Amino acid sequence: MNCTRTLSTSNILPKQSAAQVLKVLNGSGAVTFSRPAFVGLQQQWAARQFSTTKPSNWKEFFPAKDTPAIRETPPAWPHPVYTEEQMKQVEIAHREAKSMSDKVAVAFVRTLRFGLDLASGYRHGNGKMTERRYMIRNIFLESVAGVPGIVAGMLRHLHSMRKMKRDNGWMESLLEESYNERMHLLTFLKMAEPGWFMRLMVLGAQGVFFNAFFLAYIVSPRTCHRFVGYLEEEAVLTYTREIEDIDAGRLPMWEKMQAPDIAIKYWNMPEGKRTMRDLLLYIRADESKHREVNHTLGNLDQNNDPNPYVSKYKDESQPHPGKDLKHQKPTGWDREEVIGKL
Ligand SMILES: [Fe+2]
Ligand SMILES: [Fe+2]
Repeated sequence: MNCTRTLSTSNILPKQSAAQVLKVLNGSGAVTFSRPAFVGLQQQWAARQFSTTKPSNWKEFFPAKDTPAIRETPPAWPHPVYTEEQMKQVEIAHREAKSMSDKVAVAFVRTLRFGLDLASGYRHGNGKMTERRYMIRNIFLESVAGVPGIVAGMLRHLHSMRKMKRDNGWMESLLEESYNERMHLLTFLKMAEPGWFMRLMVLGAQGVFFNAFFLAYIVSPRTCHRFVGYLEEEAVLTYTREIEDIDAGRLPMWEKMQAPDIAIKYWNMPEGKRTMRDLLLYIRADESKHREVNHTLGNLDQNNDPNPYVSKYKDESQPHPGKDLKHQKPTGWDREEVIGKL
């Protein structure tokens, strides 16, 4: 079987109305045309799952550029090492909304989650989600998840130059976060190639979300970090459910599926620990780190406190925030814990 790039959907989908497409997204089954809206994604992905062609013969979606002189281009931000034990300790958590700003942030996240669940046909429970549905959701969410870090980092960069003040190390973590989210997206895209409808949704979501987050961060960076913290709580929840569904045998195609090369290199996945389940453990751990980082940043003085995730401590023997999973604090570190009593 010769697996090439996704078949075009353009001759199928223009005939469908937006309502029909949404119904298909919702999985209502009320519309019965032969191919679903994400047919490109499904075909490519299914073909790859069941292909008898060697992976090396697949047409690469976005191959690494081969040049005469350059051997490789390693990631600008090497991923910290996570042990399996640490990744298993990652848990679902919720930080209680205390202030008005927290409540606004949590309300936005709940509204977004409700809308996305509806649009992507997400349902929790035995066998309600298939590999395909999860993959669609993961790709869409990861494409949006890479926005806040780079917007916040960009604004802090401009703020630092404009006010002629130092940034205290925040920018690095924010840019690194969006880099990491983009790696999640690229990893999923190595397993499935979205069709034009998904691309359109991503474009629309990015256009709206980028601008909304940009304006919101100017008004209240603290609320924005809290918002990302709550959003990441949801990401940890979703990936935990995906792992549980694999363990319960509800996602048979994912059980033996191997992580793509891009992921093996980025996370330094050890031999024998390179399945889809292992990959989801890494991604969930990353999301838990974003959850902790943003909840912690939301607790700090936005203009004056140093970023505790890139700082060196006077007493390194005491637990403190770091890039790895050594000291996990799902609901974030309080200001006094990291800055000390002033
Ligand atoms: Fe992510
Ligand atoms: Fe995330």
